[in-house]
Amino acid sequence: MLNIFKRKPKLPDYSFLGVDLHSHLLPGIDDGARSLGHSLALIEMLQNLGFHTLITTPHVMAEMFVNNPEIIQHKHSEVLAALQEKEADVKLHAAAEYLMDEGFGDKIESGKLLTLPGKRVLVEMSFFAAPPMLEDFLFRLQTKGYHPVLAHPERYLFLKGDMKKYHELKDRGCEFQLNLLSLGGYYGKPTRESGYQLLEAGMIDFLATDLHHEGQAERLQEMRWDRHLAKVLGKLEFKNGELEASP
Ligand SMILES: [Fe+2]
Repeated sequence: MLNIFKRKPKLPDYSFLGVDLHSHLLPGIDDGARSLGHSLALIEMLQNLGFHTLITTPHVMAEMFVNNPEIIQHKHSEVLAALQEKEADVKLHAAAEYLMDEGFGDKIESGKLLTLPGKRVLVEMSFFAAPPMLEDFLFRLQTKGYHPVLAHPERYLFLKGDMKKYHELKDRGCEFQLNLLSLGGYYGKPTRESGYQLLEAGMIDFLATDLHHEGQAERLQEMRWDRHLAKVLGKLEFKNGELEASP
């Protein structure tokens, strides 16, 4: 912590990414921002980290967070109006992070998924086991013209080190989005190791914050002093810039 005041960061900020495609910034509809004021504070923190475009992705689950496009779009307009009022220089779009649970099949069939640009759909799964319908979901998404982006593949520790399985997911059409915080050890050492393994294998398409609260933004600020991280990221390219267009 102390050396923050002594030396320059190895990574000036995250503006080399520009677009953050995974976060929980809409107030009161998931485990992210709790109020409009909290949303605005988190958005400002992401701007200070160097992001100019935010595609925020509230959880959509069958049970815990029963969000739908109407709820998400309503909250999005509320935050947009507040941003406009304070003349904030940031673009905020809204999509969703879909849990591949028992309700996901019906959502695919509805054809009304909220997407990232390029008809990409951010999907996640349980941290304990892959859904029995995983392959079916990936296939059905693509027959409907959607392109799955798997959120934080490094966090599914039941897959850790199983590069064959990761390659199979990529062959089935998944793009991978890694959480920056994983590389700082925020979720523990095994997740950090898995993150670096996927990064160094060139399998990561996008980097994102998955921001829920201020503590995580502070951690992202501190990670700029991580020499190893700066070196690894400096050698790689990511596709975040492809997501600048409106979803
Ligand atoms: Fe998330």
